[in-house]
Amino acid sequence: MTDSCRTEEDARAAFQSCKSNDARDRVRFYDSWAENYEEDHCLMSYSAPHLGIDFLMDNFSGRPAAARVLDVACGSGWIAKLMVELGFKHFVGVDGSQGMLDQAAKTGLYEELKLALLGTEPLPAHTGAFDVVIIVGALDAGFAPVSVVRELCNAAKPGGLVCMSRGDHRGAAGLQYKKDLERELQRMQEEGLWSPVGLKHTDRYMEDPHLNPQSVQELPQEQRFIGGMAYLYKKSLQ
Ligand SMILES: C[S@@+](CC[C@H](N)C(=O)[O-])C[C@H]1O[C@@H](n2cnc3c(N)ncnc32)[C@H](O)[C@@H]1O
Repeated sequence: MTDSCRTEEDARAAFQSCKSNDARDRVRFYDSWAENYEEDHCLMSYSAPHLGIDFLMDNFSGRPAAARVLDVACGSGWIAKLMVELGFKHFVGVDGSQGMLDQAAKTGLYEELKLALLGTEPLPAHTGAFDVVIIVGALDAGFAPVSVVRELCNAAKPGGLVCMSRGDHRGAAGLQYKKDLERELQRMQEEGLWSPVGLKHTDRYMEDPHLNPQSVQELPQEQRFIGGMAYLYKKSLQ
């Protein structure tokens, strides 16, 4: 994080300027946002990393220090910074934005950082290699397409956990994405690839960054936030 003095208005303006639903434009936008990414997300009370990691930890029975973690759409490395506090040591990160990977590299926590535009390029990860696969804040329209969840499962070890944390952003594209995602999760369960460990919902995933900055102060607290969900799956042993 930089020590600049960003305001809530700056953060909203940044979110609102990122309009394209094309993943290539989106990661280019993250390149330019990388330096202010964490500060702007803190200003919007972004809780996605905690939502995913807390739920994962409620259900993780291995030894954190021995676990290999694949952090997909790792961004600035926020996930590894939180997980290292819980005893995890082995992280591989993947992201489509070189600017965000440069921030992640500064944490010094990742054994490898790989550049890949998911959905266009294959997930650069060996099959069955990771005890934990985590993706936070990147399963949405214009980000990683739904097809990526099969690749997440593929990268997990048999019996490994796949944790996905995402926000319910308003609008038709977001609603359709959620429907398609949940259909795919269910289909993969029916195919015997994994089984659900559980779901965790929050009413306060983050402040809705698309609200008008002038009118937002007049809204009651609960209407300022969007909800979100963490999905946790265990890869089948076969
Ligand atoms: C909201 S940030 C989440 C970053 C991190 N997981 C966190 O929670 O702080 C979304 C990240 O997804 C990446 N991203 C979006 N679409 C992508 C794609 N198709 N392939 C790879 N990375 C993508 C962006 O570059 C950005 O770093």
